[in-house]
Amino acid sequence: MDLNNEQDFTGQAFAEACFILPTYNEQACIQHTIEAIFEQQSRVSGYKFRILVVDDNSSDGTQKIVNGLIEQYECLHMITGEKVGLGDAYKRGFGHALSHFKPDVIFQMDSDGQHDPNLIPDFIEQIQQGYSLVVGSRFVKGGSTPEFSLRRKVISKVGNLLVRYVGGVSHIKDCTSGYRCISAAYIAKCDLGFLSTRGYSFQSSLICELVAQGAKSKEIPIVFTARNAGVSKLSLRDQVEFLLNIPKLGFHSHKDFVKYSIVGSSGVLINLGGYVFLTRHLGIAPEVAPILSIEASLLSNFLFNNFWTFKYRIIKSGFSSRLFQFHLVAGLSGIINYAIFFAAYTSLMMNDIFANLLGIGVAAIANYLINSNWTWKKHLK
Ligand code: GDD
Ligand code: MN
Repeated sequence: MDLNNEQDFTGQAFAEACFILPTYNEQACIQHTIEAIFEQQSRVSGYKFRILVVDDNSSDGTQKIVNGLIEQYECLHMITGEKVGLGDAYKRGFGHALSHFKPDVIFQMDSDGQHDPNLIPDFIEQIQQGYSLVVGSRFVKGGSTPEFSLRRKVISKVGNLLVRYVGGVSHIKDCTSGYRCISAAYIAKCDLGFLSTRGYSFQSSLICELVAQGAKSKEIPIVFTARNAGVSKLSLRDQVEFLLNIPKLGFHSHKDFVKYSIVGSSGVLINLGGYVFLTRHLGIAPEVAPILSIEASLLSNFLFNNFWTFKYRIIKSGFSSRLFQFHLVAGLSGIINYAIFFAAYTSLMMNDIFANLLGIGVAAIANYLINSNWTWKKHLK
């Protein structure tokens, strides 16, 4: 790790940990959270703490409290802005921290007391062990969400499953957690402007992007306790954005998708050309020929994707299991295609050609996402 060239009073070089605390109407909680973080400073050696509050013009006097504390703490700062959403606040916070301070690690943490500051030394310890993304996890052994309603538990679990398996981060059990410590160099590598999310789903976009950049991750258990006061700001709008964002998480690279589409189109030609050749030149019956031509196109698609589209990926599974997975996904895509066609045609009374087009479109995207994130899943650190 690169240490900043600053030195403490003993002449030792130390690194900087910058805590980004987003706040929206947290007047009842923010003071305690700030004080509790600075109290941990004495338990961590080698790191100097800095806190950046990102307040979105709270109407309850949060800024007044923070301004009062800024008089007292030299390493406490605040930026303010219009409320757009949690993700937008984090983007501004990261941008400000990277350009104004020299953080080695950046902490993400809620301001409402739900994240236990006593765990800060444990996060730092994992960074010192060489991890660059340490996640406070509610879903590993020792972690929990005792205060969650059944509804919130289900939303959180299902949301996590989608992010993990679509976003290529299946090795991380809690992808939406808001308590994390991240190597600043990796945040700088992420194109934050590219992460289009504005609300809570920023958390899942960021974790996928960090892993795609090669960040080595580690989860440590956290108990996600009750808020000290106030209410959650998670809105229905955030939940809708979260769901709409899921397919986007699967597209790690637009180049992959373009190549995959070219290969898919070549498969259509091979399928059709093969059918004509088998029936017209070899005299094979029309009932049998498609079985051979479909398989020929599947094989050629597989080979092109394996040796061209995803050639650069380091993959753990063997050639034959990939070939098998590819066939399974093709079968599943056929079922998705038919199910969507059937639903649109019979229930929505859609024109049969449009219904089929819709089925083909959804099945093609699902086919790409599953193959890209399962069959040719990148080897993760
Ligand atoms: N500046 C700013 N702008 N801060 C915001 C905004 C916003 O639009 N929305 C929320 N916050 C702040 C809150 O004031 C709080 O400090 C923190 O972000 C988390 O918001 P909560 O409203 O307390 O979220 P939660 O407890 O429901 O959700 C937590 O768990 C989720 C997973 O279940 C958070 O940790 C989320 O990040 C996490 O995804
Ligand atoms: Mn909270």
